Amino acid sequence: MSDKSPRVDGAQPPATLDDPHLLPSAKNPKRMEALAALAMLIGMAGFAAFIVVYWINASNYWESATLGIGMLGLGVGVIAWGKYLMPQGPFVEERHDFHSTDDERTAFNAAITGRGGLEVKRRKLLLGIFAIGGGIMTLALIVPGVRSLGPKPAKSEDTEGPVENSLFTTNWKKGSKLATVSGRLVQVDDLEVGGVLTVFPQGFEGSSPDQVILIRLAQLGPNDPPYPIAPPGKTSWGVQGYVAYSKLCTHLGCPVGLYQERTQQLVCPCHQSIFDVNAGCIPQFGPAPRPLPQLPITVDPTGQMRANGSFDQAVGPGFWERP
Ligand code: FES
Repeated sequence: MSDKSPRVDGAQPPATLDDPHLLPSAKNPKRMEALAALAMLIGMAGFAAFIVVYWINASNYWESATLGIGMLGLGVGVIAWGKYLMPQGPFVEERHDFHSTDDERTAFNAAITGRGGLEVKRRKLLLGIFAIGGGIMTLALIVPGVRSLGPKPAKSEDTEGPVENSLFTTNWKKGSKLATVSGRLVQVDDLEVGGVLTVFPQGFEGSSPDQVILIRLAQLGPNDPPYPIAPPGKTSWGVQGYVAYSKLCTHLGCPVGLYQERTQQLVCPCHQSIFDVNAGCIPQFGPAPRPLPQLPITVDPTGQMRANGSFDQAVGPGFWERP
């Protein structure tokens, strides 16, 4: 702003007490001044009281009351001041010329360009820096997300020995003994009807991709088949009332560990997907897109429960390379 800027013209003369714009109560300014001052003093007292009651940790009611009095008093005082003691409009101001003179423009340009010692003409350089900076910032936003992804699922041909980090295959194979997480082998009479147990292939206890929920289904009725209505081709995948399913939810991989015996449903606690155990664990509700993979099981002559093969599909949630 230049010192040569035109001055505001049209300054108004002070209002007089017989000014028709004055509110009636403003015609006695001394009284209004006293009232405004009193209101503000009450407000100050309220604030002071608030400080005290807050300091001594008095009741919330006292804090609210004193704070309220403070704000109310101060507010009333300020409003009264503005409304009754300040000149009231309407005011008219002559519009002055906003146009800068040539001298003023020259001085302004000299002040801007001279301050940094540069002319503001290097837009290409600034645009380039801005583009590179924006790109780096975008990368900074993307990289953490990509970096935080888990390892790529390994295929069985990529792995030797025990399968780790695989969503294509597990360590279950024909003849694997069912074992609890503590390594205890599971016998055919270990579970009551309606009972469930988390099992692993012997030797891989605690392995996440291998976890399986073993269920002994309730007898449905004297004339019902002892086994659930299995999907086609899987009628023999259960044995003596037992069925076994991968415990990894096909939605996002949470362990599906809640079994409702009365309805024979498995419930995933994460997003409440419900799987119908009596019909091949097809999802009945929730975001899970596929049935839980079933593990074929059998019982050997000693009563030991064993896998009769592996899963017929990848366990867990979907992923890009999943067939
Ligand atoms: Fe099971 Fe989402 S992980 S429903």
